[in-house]
Amino acid sequence: MKYILAACFAFFIGKVAAQDSLPWYHNTTVYQIYPRSYYDSNGDGIGDLQGIIQKLDYIQSLGYETVWFSPFYTSPQRDFGYDISDYLAIAPEYGTLADAQQLIAETHRRGMKIVFDMVMNHTSDEHPWFKESKSSRTNPKADWYIWTDKPNRWHSVIGGGGWHYCKERNQYYWASFLPFQPDLNYRNPEVKKAMFDACRHWLAQGLDGFRLDMINSIYKDSLLRNNAASRRAVRHAPGSGKFIHTVKGYLNQPETFQFAKELRTVCDSFGDRMLLGEVYGTHPVVREFLGGDKNDGLGLVFNFEMLRFKYKASYFRKLTESLERDFPDPFAPVYVFSNHDRRRSMKRLDGDMARAKLLQFYQLTTRGVSCMYYGEEIGMSDLAIPYKNALDPIGQKYKKVPRWLTELADETLNRDDLRTPMQWTSGVNGGFSTAAKTWLPVHPNHDTINVAMESVDSSSILNEARTLLHLHKNNGALHYGKLSILAGQPRGVLAYSRQVGNEEVIVLLNFSRKTKKVAIPDKYRPVYSLYAGDKPEGTSLNLRGLGAAILSK
Ligand code: NOJ
Repeated sequence: MKYILAACFAFFIGKVAAQDSLPWYHNTTVYQIYPRSYYDSNGDGIGDLQGIIQKLDYIQSLGYETVWFSPFYTSPQRDFGYDISDYLAIAPEYGTLADAQQLIAETHRRGMKIVFDMVMNHTSDEHPWFKESKSSRTNPKADWYIWTDKPNRWHSVIGGGGWHYCKERNQYYWASFLPFQPDLNYRNPEVKKAMFDACRHWLAQGLDGFRLDMINSIYKDSLLRNNAASRRAVRHAPGSGKFIHTVKGYLNQPETFQFAKELRTVCDSFGDRMLLGEVYGTHPVVREFLGGDKNDGLGLVFNFEMLRFKYKASYFRKLTESLERDFPDPFAPVYVFSNHDRRRSMKRLDGDMARAKLLQFYQLTTRGVSCMYYGEEIGMSDLAIPYKNALDPIGQKYKKVPRWLTELADETLNRDDLRTPMQWTSGVNGGFSTAAKTWLPVHPNHDTINVAMESVDSSSILNEARTLLHLHKNNGALHYGKLSILAGQPRGVLAYSRQVGNEEVIVLLNFSRKTKKVAIPDKYRPVYSLYAGDKPEGTSLNLRGLGAAILSK
């Protein structure tokens, strides 16, 4: 490890590029924390804010530049925080407002940016706004939510009806997601103002931005018209997994693109603030959310198509080519392979750590933003928790579906599987908590997959992450540089250069299991190899199977 860091240090000297003109979030690295599962400081089996504060040194030492937190606002926790009942307060199981302020200050003190999750599409049905809205047809918040006498045929995004009866009003309200998450009515200007004020409140506390939950659902068709009937399964976006119904009436409305621009204006008044949108959509749709050619909408949108990646050089080459074509500067692709909703990448890699290392190498050397879910850096895997025991409301909804069926589709319907506690040590509860019972079980593989053991193993995925994150942070070409695919590689090899000014690095990735002889430019030498010993011979280099290297002159 010492050797690797020394080699990298030599590589950094004099090489930190001058700042470019793009905002900081254009090429940052993001670490996603699911607070309930990160670190439990008070022994109640649930992660909390003080626990996270204790682990900030770890995150900083790895070299992440930005930390994004899934929600910890006040909430009945039926969707574990994505059902908010007070946008300005903190759920007591996670801590207090003072803890949140301390978290912001401590993150900044370590030179990192901090981003919260903002759920604008819906509130909890226990939010006082909804309680008031549902109480009568005439109260002051009567049209803060979407009400109708006559439901149309829309389905919720997770399947099943999205209209729910309310006897107090003898009407139905719309919920794009689960019934206890009623959608707000943004056609009422008071709603927009209230939510923009909530954003302003947190930005004024020093926050560096938001990850925006379901931002493409904000507006619904103004006349609530039925979607076109479809007799076949309709896939509305690559990798979205939602097919059975059309979604036109409540996704990607023109007013929602406009909303993205307004929100950007709100945030811009606080300086450069990150807005990272959750949008399942094609590249043109994503471009609309980014503000089209003017690039004055959201700063970033996840490129979710890669959540269902194929482990092949040709897949990653085509992915990078399409992202470079459709999101050149001043746009930035967002590379994301796992999150709190979808299977961990390790599951899609059949538990193969060597493949996980190569995937991470790719992710952290591409242009744009790498967004990594907690535990990816140590190679955590999903834990198959029976649907019948699910705490996740989606798992509960689909508890009768046999698991083998969803396995066939390479998915899980129980998000508990991928939200298990962070594995810090090989000890009790993986060092996550001292409680007799943790909110979700700790994966039994914490006996070998954990931070403590991997920290002292120079060949671990954790130390690879550390090296690459530091390179990304300190090397101009890797941080800002444009990416050009290098054609003509042997089968199974992906190669690209990253270049800014007169700084250039070349990245080589061998997705095959066989050693490949790769042509390299004269005088280029590895500054970091996944496996030491990939020796250049003149203008070629033998890159071992599943190996990767960064070369420079
Ligand atoms: C998307 C979030 O990522 C997911 O976790 C949540 O359950 C839904 N939106 C509803 O807010």
